[in-house]
Amino acid sequence: MKIIPGLSSQLMAARIATAQGCNVSLCEFKRFPDGELYTRVAEEIKDEEIVIVQSIRTDSDLICLLQLIDAVEEAYKTKVVIPYLGYARQDKKFEPGEAISIRAIARSICAAGTIDKIYVVNVHNRGVLKYFGIDTTELDASPLIGDYVVKKKIAHPVIIGPDKGARELAKAVATPYGFDYDVLEKRRISSEDVEIKPKGLSVEGRNAVIVDDIISTGGTISEATSMLKAQGANDIYVACIHGVFVQNAITRMLRAGVKDIIATDTVESIYSKVRIAKMVADELKKHG
Ligand code: R5P
Repeated sequence: MKIIPGLSSQLMAARIATAQGCNVSLCEFKRFPDGELYTRVAEEIKDEEIVIVQSIRTDSDLICLLQLIDAVEEAYKTKVVIPYLGYARQDKKFEPGEAISIRAIARSICAAGTIDKIYVVNVHNRGVLKYFGIDTTELDASPLIGDYVVKKKIAHPVIIGPDKGARELAKAVATPYGFDYDVLEKRRISSEDVEIKPKGLSVEGRNAVIVDDIISTGGTISEATSMLKAQGANDIYVACIHGVFVQNAITRMLRAGVKDIIATDTVESIYSKVRIAKMVADELKKHG
């Protein structure tokens, strides 16, 4: 088996190769003068099993993935690992005339070459997996976040989802270790005022870990942090699967009072404290 590292997942690919005990291939990437991306797998691929690893955070990342799938056409078996599947939040038409972006992306990936299996990590809405016409497995990194919270020795934490969409994630992080968990709920008090607070638990004097699948602008987390602070929470940590961190996300969260930021390495940054390579390698072994 050979691991082919895409431009956006160089470190992740190397870690998967180490965990899997196999080689990582060298690829060449460059830009033509007009800005087009050139991608080449710099060694012969013939009749062997290939695992392409590439997160899709930007438009270029998608192009790179399509090129890699095309480049390994003579592989005997091709698996594709997409640690962060961007565009998954545009999973329906919110307004008439909109593209269902993730459907368009899934279709283009499946049409790029012969793929035997796809792996994605904590996709924003699992329902979108149906848009991939081939066998696609979602891997769940939330237990690894729970493990990290324990390793960090955060005393008696309460795990908080910033909205009801994060309930399942909060539950998955909390349950294996018996942590309390809750989600924040918005309640209208008057035409001017809304109150945002945990649905059932009091956070007063407690350490909180806000968990979300994606942190992009940091707006959701900043608001949740301010609300928890206003309700007397002690230290506030945030943890996410996909730390996209655009613009001034980090500053916003720190200014709101976040003590530390924890992310996995599906999108590589200095906050990628939770590594998922072993989980991916174990899954690759399972499916032979
Ligand atoms: C939304 O449904 C997601 O789960 C995240 O809460 C959201 O994408 C976070 O975005 P931002 O960091 O820009 O508030």
